[in-house]
Amino acid sequence: MQEWLTKIENAVDLEELESIRIKLLGKKGLLAAEFAKLKNVAPSEKPKVAKELNELKAKITKLLAEKKEELQQKELKRRLESEKIDVSLYSPAGYKGALHPVQSTLDRIIEYFVSMNFSVETGPLVEDDFHNFEALNLPKHHPARDMQDTFYFNDGMLLRTHTSPVQIRTMMSQQPPIRMISPGPVFRRDFDLTHTPMFHQVEGLLVDSKDRVSFANLKFILGDFLHYMFGDVRIRYRPSFFPFTEPSAEVDISCIFCDGKGCRVCSNTGWLEVLGCGMVDPNVFEAVGYENVSGYAFGLGVERFAMLIHKISDLRTLFEGDLRLLEQFR
Ligand code: DAH
Repeated sequence: MQEWLTKIENAVDLEELESIRIKLLGKKGLLAAEFAKLKNVAPSEKPKVAKELNELKAKITKLLAEKKEELQQKELKRRLESEKIDVSLYSPAGYKGALHPVQSTLDRIIEYFVSMNFSVETGPLVEDDFHNFEALNLPKHHPARDMQDTFYFNDGMLLRTHTSPVQIRTMMSQQPPIRMISPGPVFRRDFDLTHTPMFHQVEGLLVDSKDRVSFANLKFILGDFLHYMFGDVRIRYRPSFFPFTEPSAEVDISCIFCDGKGCRVCSNTGWLEVLGCGMVDPNVFEAVGYENVSGYAFGLGVERFAMLIHKISDLRTLFEGDLRLLEQFR
């Protein structure tokens, strides 16, 4: 038996100890065999032998428990050692991401209009004909629908071609006065140097009673906004046409690349077109059931702003996910 006690003493891990325990104390173990032999012992000897066996069993059990505790402590210590983290160790800086230039430009645009008390509204990307066209004074077969090549679904729904439908949704779910912008993706069947099938717009709309909104208000807010975005530029308004505004205008800033002298980017005109705007057409107010109000609206392309601000010449590079482009904006 001494041999087994030594084995317990020398066990190196919990696994070995467990196999010794089974060998000694298990149902078919050595001690069970010794107890079985009791029936052959002379009755006078039996109590003595049984007592010795019980004492041996108690001794082994105690030894096993002590060894187990010791081995567990050892194992814990080993794990703590091996998993120790040296927090003072030098580690090279990890990879740092950056905001996509379209996102940072959008953030800046939103920041301006929120500071002017405009709310930020959203609408669905899959729109119906009423919100995307009809209510915006673009009846079926109106030639101006061709200005925007549309992705249609089979059920007559479509991918919105501009953020203007959110004007309609906001006017139909709220009451004037309204001051809102609506940023988000829009979709058109277009793909070249300056067009991608998905891009981002910000729509703006202000509606109030007739005596409180004028074209001068529109000029003020857009002028202030463009100076916020582009710094010290000159601004001009060119008469234009949009079905949902009357009168309508396009807004140019003096070319930020040549300061208006004329260069490749501005096609030697000295001007860059950045916005569409106008006074809300009465037909639009009629479509949403508004009376005795006046309003102005504007719409802009976020990628165009981002390209001008960051001097990016090919719009498509913004959507190729090339890390070499994104790394420049860290
Ligand atoms: N929806 C126009 C577009 O996609 C942009 C626009 C122009 C919006 C003039 C307006 C506006 O609200 O008044 O090209």
